[in-house]
Amino acid sequence: MKCILVTGGAGYIGSHTAVELTNAGYDVVIADNLYNSEISAVEGVRKITGKEVAFEQVDCLDKNAMEKLFKKYQFSAVIHFAALKAVGESVEKPLDYYRNNLESLINVLSLMKENRVPNFVFSSSATVYGQPEELPATETTPRQKATSPYGNTKQICEDIIEDTVNATNGTMSALALRYFNPIGAHPSALIGELPKGIPNNLMPYITQTAAGIRKCLSIFGNDYDTPDGTAIRDYIDVTDLAKAHVAAMVRLIDKQNKTPYEVFNIGTGRPFSVLELVEIFEKTTGVKVNYRITGRRTGDIEKIWADTSLANRELGWKAEKSIEETLLSAWMWEKHLRGL
Ligand code: NAD
Ligand code: UFG
Repeated sequence: MKCILVTGGAGYIGSHTAVELTNAGYDVVIADNLYNSEISAVEGVRKITGKEVAFEQVDCLDKNAMEKLFKKYQFSAVIHFAALKAVGESVEKPLDYYRNNLESLINVLSLMKENRVPNFVFSSSATVYGQPEELPATETTPRQKATSPYGNTKQICEDIIEDTVNATNGTMSALALRYFNPIGAHPSALIGELPKGIPNNLMPYITQTAAGIRKCLSIFGNDYDTPDGTAIRDYIDVTDLAKAHVAAMVRLIDKQNKTPYEVFNIGTGRPFSVLELVEIFEKTTGVKVNYRITGRRTGDIEKIWADTSLANRELGWKAEKSIEETLLSAWMWEKHLRGL
């Protein structure tokens, strides 16, 4: 059985991916420093899969601990989720973001080279596109100068990976997956997003408002050039997103990749405005979300959604869940968390 190292695997997307990889027959080793996650997520993965998925509490910045990890297991591939991800915080603490996100990547890639681990999948982001001139965004849509240190780490990481695999004479291959907006939770409601403090992102803010933890959702701007004036995104179900990693893994392990470094958009291709999302949430769950319109949030883009045809064709992967199913899963998770 192929053994996959999943850094940041106790986090939101990593834990869902650990489930899908395990269900697909891979041996998974989750490595996480639990900076932004809890051990309960690993327990959730074990409960869902019925397997003793391995967990190692390590910091990817700790080179010695990481060396030991690479000696303890024989990895066939690494999926690197471990990163700090709060856009606003990255503006206040840029060095923390550059140190954590770049150094952890460099450590992982160096150890992969030293230990001859050939396959790498990276969590990139649609944030690299900024506000594209043409929509939907394709993988060849030019990247734009990042508007936050967080976004910049994703661009620099993509470049580091490309340069690294190109220098290995075909012994290493990598896929960068550019996620659009991941939302929702596993249908079991045993794992999901665990935001610390007041959520920055729309989905947990909606579910927390619906649960009565937040008084009112602020919708950041209704004067955008969109049909209802609120901003548009491509919301992808986290389980669909997790399955894209399994497809990426199969492509690399079966050596189906066309070049050593490839990039794929992972989204649905379906645009929804903030107001539409709130309305569908209310209709699907039967729960009201108290909201008000406020000013735009600095740094937000107006609209983006993905052209996913490359991933559909090359990875044989397609987002499957309806928006209703996804919103319902997010609500079930919130209810599970709050004991409602
Ligand atoms: P998350 O914070 O839930 O998961 C990241 C995990 O990495 C956490 O468990 C954290 O404890 C761990 N971690 C961070 N630094 C570490 C280190 N130095 N060593 C070991 N573990 C470390 O975030 P997520 O939403 O699951 O995101 C996963 C990846 O996907 C990140 O790279 C993120 O930037 C990227 N991404 C997320 C989104 C999103 O909206 N959630 C969108 C695009 C890309
Ligand atoms: N929004 C609100 N109110 C809120 C929170 C968000 O109106 O309380 C709006 C935002 O203005 C935006 C939309 O909801 O129009 C989505 O906002 P999110 O914060 O959920 O997501 P973003 O598109 O801003 O960014 C997210 C991640 C980034 C990632 C990007 C693309 O936070 O890290 O998706 O993957 F890069």
